[in-house]
Amino acid sequence: MPVTVVIGGQWGDEGKGKIVDLLSEEVDVVARYQGGANAGHTICWEDETFVLHLVPSGIFHQGTTCVIGNGVVIDPAAVLEEIRMITELGYEVEGRLFISHNAHLIMPYHKKLDQARERYRDADAIGTTGRGIGPAYMDKFARSGIRVVDLLDRDALRRKIESAMEEKNAILRSVYGADELDVEAIIEEYVEFDRFIDPYVTDTTAYLNEALKDGKRVLAEGAQGSLLDVDFGTYPYVTSSHPTVGGCCTGLGVPPTAIDRVIGIVKAYCTRVGNGPFPTELEDATGQRLRDVGHEYGATTGRPRRCGWLDLVALRYTAMVNGFTDLAITKLDVLTGLDELKVATHYGYDDKETSRFPSETQTLDRVEPLYETLDGWHDDITGVDRFDDLPDAARRYLRFITDAAGVDISLISTGPKRDQTIAGDEARVRVMG
Ligand code: GDP
Ligand code: IMO
Ligand code: MG
Repeated sequence: MPVTVVIGGQWGDEGKGKIVDLLSEEVDVVARYQGGANAGHTICWEDETFVLHLVPSGIFHQGTTCVIGNGVVIDPAAVLEEIRMITELGYEVEGRLFISHNAHLIMPYHKKLDQARERYRDADAIGTTGRGIGPAYMDKFARSGIRVVDLLDRDALRRKIESAMEEKNAILRSVYGADELDVEAIIEEYVEFDRFIDPYVTDTTAYLNEALKDGKRVLAEGAQGSLLDVDFGTYPYVTSSHPTVGGCCTGLGVPPTAIDRVIGIVKAYCTRVGNGPFPTELEDATGQRLRDVGHEYGATTGRPRRCGWLDLVALRYTAMVNGFTDLAITKLDVLTGLDELKVATHYGYDDKETSRFPSETQTLDRVEPLYETLDGWHDDITGVDRFDDLPDAARRYLRFITDAAGVDISLISTGPKRDQTIAGDEARVRVMG
């Protein structure tokens, strides 16, 4: 049975948590394949709201098993905190959550280096979440990372931490003028972590491939967004992993031939946290309105998100890179009350018009979005769960997106809660021949 991948189609925070939680009901396994606790995936039902950073968003469905794959960088403190929170809510976690033995660990020096480097870069800062993501992936690719499996051999673990810290402390001290970290305290903390994590650790690649062979359905949960991909995003203002579809294969060890559905999660407008180009950004009252109505404040850091119009040039690009088979449009309700809605269909650049998304920052900084203006609507659509109950203008907006992106819409979200969704065949907005 094949794999469905859920991928952020913009700069993250598109509502992946809500959609994965919803789709988890229909699958056997939900697996995170990249990123770390920089992610903040919000799940709401009734009056409860939960934010998950590392544990997959399928955990609130008792029949679903969750996997943290080898491509994720794991912060022990964050994962333990989440397991504790989910257990306290009355959900069984042990036996339902599996963590890859090959996943790399975020170490305290990764967080410290991330934050110190951001301060050092000053005006050129990326605006990272400060969760140690970049430095952890740097160590992974420099082949000096510490993996979950390393926790098993205490002597080897000690040697690895000591050797890593000799270098990291020197960098912290002499490059960044920051305080050094205490080696013994870190060894003690990670040995303690091993005791808690042991029941969850397994060879998740073998587990997932067995599950697929047994006909189980697997949902791969992307974190961040395609425009934050280290190769395909707005480099250098990106994260240090591959949120795009290839990251699913390398981050889980499932073959590309097992993937048969790639869902792009797309907010009905655009947001971005952190620095970097954002052609359709609105630094005016409309941008502030989107922020207020959409509660656009980071689920991980609480930072205000930058807001702007939907960018179809960027969406066509992320649809191309990922091969989106269908789209889930989220937060349509947030647009209610605007007289008109703009969507960027092309960019103007050096007196020319282009429909190509130039992911290189130098060009992207200089493009001028060219907009199509569509009618807005004023009827409150919060919680609407039938396509036909949407105002005409909202339906026209969705059809415009589908046609411009060249991808069908299969889900429409009209509120943060599970049931505030238009799903099934009636949500299907098809690309016109
Ligand atoms: P993720 O990182 O992609 O999972 O998204 P976040 O959880 O960081 O941010 C999405 C925010 O929008 C969360 O606060 C969700 O509860 C909320 N949300 C998701 N879908 C909808 C929707 O259709 N309408 C509204 N109003 N809020 C939504
Ligand atoms: P979810 O999964 C939005 C952004 C940061 C920063 C850049 C690099 O919730 O959609 P990092 O800490 O990864 O080195 O920061 O990436 N970023 C996100 N923005 N949603 C996320 O995750 C993000 N994870 C990282 O703000 O601009
Ligand atoms: Mg988020």
